[in-house]
Amino acid sequence: MSDYVHLNLFTMNAVEHVSPGSWRHPGDRSAEYTDREYWTEVARTAERGGFDAVFFADVRGVYDVYGDDRETAVERAVQTPANDPTYLVPAMAEVTDELGFAVTRSTTYQHPYELARQFSTLDHLTDGRVAFNVVTSYLESAAINLGLDERMDKQTRYDRADEFLDVCYALWEDSWDEDAVVRDADRGVYTEPDGVHRIDHEGEFFDVPGPHGCEPSPQRTPVVFQAGSSERGREFAARNAEAVFCSQPTEEGVREYVEDLRERAADYGRDPDRLAFFPGIVPVVGETTAAAEAKYERLRNGVDVEATLALLSGFLDMDLSELDPDQKIDHIETDAIQGTMNAFTQSDPDREWTVREVAEFSGLGTTSPVVVGDPTEVADELQRWVAEVGVDGFNVKEVVRTGSLDDFVELVTPELRERGLLPPHDADTLRGTLFGDGPRLPETHPARR
Ligand SMILES: Cc1cc2nc3c(=O)[nH]c(=O)nc-3n(C[C@H](O)[C@H](O)[C@H](O)COP(=O)(O)O)c2cc1C
Repeated sequence: MSDYVHLNLFTMNAVEHVSPGSWRHPGDRSAEYTDREYWTEVARTAERGGFDAVFFADVRGVYDVYGDDRETAVERAVQTPANDPTYLVPAMAEVTDELGFAVTRSTTYQHPYELARQFSTLDHLTDGRVAFNVVTSYLESAAINLGLDERMDKQTRYDRADEFLDVCYALWEDSWDEDAVVRDADRGVYTEPDGVHRIDHEGEFFDVPGPHGCEPSPQRTPVVFQAGSSERGREFAARNAEAVFCSQPTEEGVREYVEDLRERAADYGRDPDRLAFFPGIVPVVGETTAAAEAKYERLRNGVDVEATLALLSGFLDMDLSELDPDQKIDHIETDAIQGTMNAFTQSDPDREWTVREVAEFSGLGTTSPVVVGDPTEVADELQRWVAEVGVDGFNVKEVVRTGSLDDFVELVTPELRERGLLPPHDADTLRGTLFGDGPRLPETHPARR
C-alpha cells in the first residue's frame, strides 16, 4: 500500500478482551465499558493519536470449553460480560471527524438482508467511516443459544459466509442506481422507481429478491475486514477482504500469511497490493527503556493465567484444563480459530510450546508480539515491520485501559508523526484513508464484477 504506518485500536465492548486479568491493574477503567462517555473519550484520544480506526472485536456465546464449565470465564470476565459494539459507533462518530469504525458481525447467525441495512445505516451516520469485520463465530455455546443443536462445521460456515456477502454486495452495489434518488418535490418523485432494482438472489442458504431498503451510502459496501487462517478461511479472505488482521508471534508467521494471501488474492483476479495487513501488536512504552521494562514486568505479573487458559480453550476449542502444563501443544485443524493454533505450532518451526508457556505468553494480547521500549525503540520496530515484513500497519492491542492507549498517543504518536509515518487523514471515507483512493470498492473486487 504505502510506507505509512496505519493504526487501528483493537478493543472490545467488554471488560476484558485479550489480556486477561488486566482489569485488576490500579487505575484500569475497563469497568466503564458500559458508559457512553468512556467510548467518546476513547474515540477522541484515538483520533488525536493518528489512528485510522477503532476496531471492535465481538463474540457470541460464553467461554465454557475450559473445564467444560463457564465458571472461570464468568468469574474472571473472559470476554463476558460483553455488549454489542454497533451502538457505540454513532456516539463515537459524533465526537470525531475522520476516525473509522470496524465492527465485527457474524455471518453465521444473522441474515444478510438485515445486516446490509445495519451497515448502510452506519455508513450514512458516519459519513462513510465504517468497516465490517466478517467472522463466522467459533463458540459452540453461541450456536446453541441461537437456535442450532451444535456449531456448524467450518466449511459450511465459510460457504454460508461467501453467499452471505454475495447477497450483501448485490444489495449494496447493484440495487440502487447512483441517480435513483432525485428528491423532485415538483413532480412528487423522491426516488425514480426504474433506478431501484431487485437482486433476485436464490442460493443454498438464502433467497433474497431485494431491492435493498436503503439508499446508497458514501462507501456503499463498508470496508471489508477478515481474519481467516485455515485453508478455507484464507480462500474466503483472499476473495473478499480488503483488510486482513492476524495475530502471529513471529515475523516469519506474519510474512508467510501476508505472502500467501496476496498470491491467493491475485488468483481471484484482484490487485494483491490492495489488500492491507494489520497484525496485532502489544506496545509497552515508557519514557525510557528502563521505565518500559519495569512497566512490562508489572503487566506480566498481573496476568491471570487461568483466565488466559479459559480464553485460549475457547479459541482452540480444546480443553486446556485436561492437559499437563508441561505437555507440548500438537498441531490440529481446529473448528474454532486456526490462527491461534498456527501461532503456536507453525509460526516458528524451531519452537515447541507447552501449555504452560502458551498460557504465560498469551496473557498480554494473546498471540501477538509485545514491543517494549522507549518511544524511539517502539517507533523503530513498527517502521521496520512495515518495511521488512510487508504489513501496512497494526491492530494495537491494549492491556491497561485506557493507560495503554494514553501511553501510545502521548509517547509513540509524536515520534511517528515526526517521521511522517502517519497517514494524512484527509480522505472523505475510511476506504480513502486506508487506500488513498475513492470511497468505492475497486473494480477488481468480486462485489463490483
Ligand atoms: C486476530 C484474530 C481476531 C479474531 N477476532 C474475532 C472476533 O472478534 N470475533 C469472532 O467471532 N471471531 C474472531 N476471530 C475468528 C476469525 O474471524 C475466524 O472466524 C476464525 O478464525 C475461524 O476461521 P479460521 O480458522 O479460518 O481462522 C478472530 C481471529 C483472529 C486470528
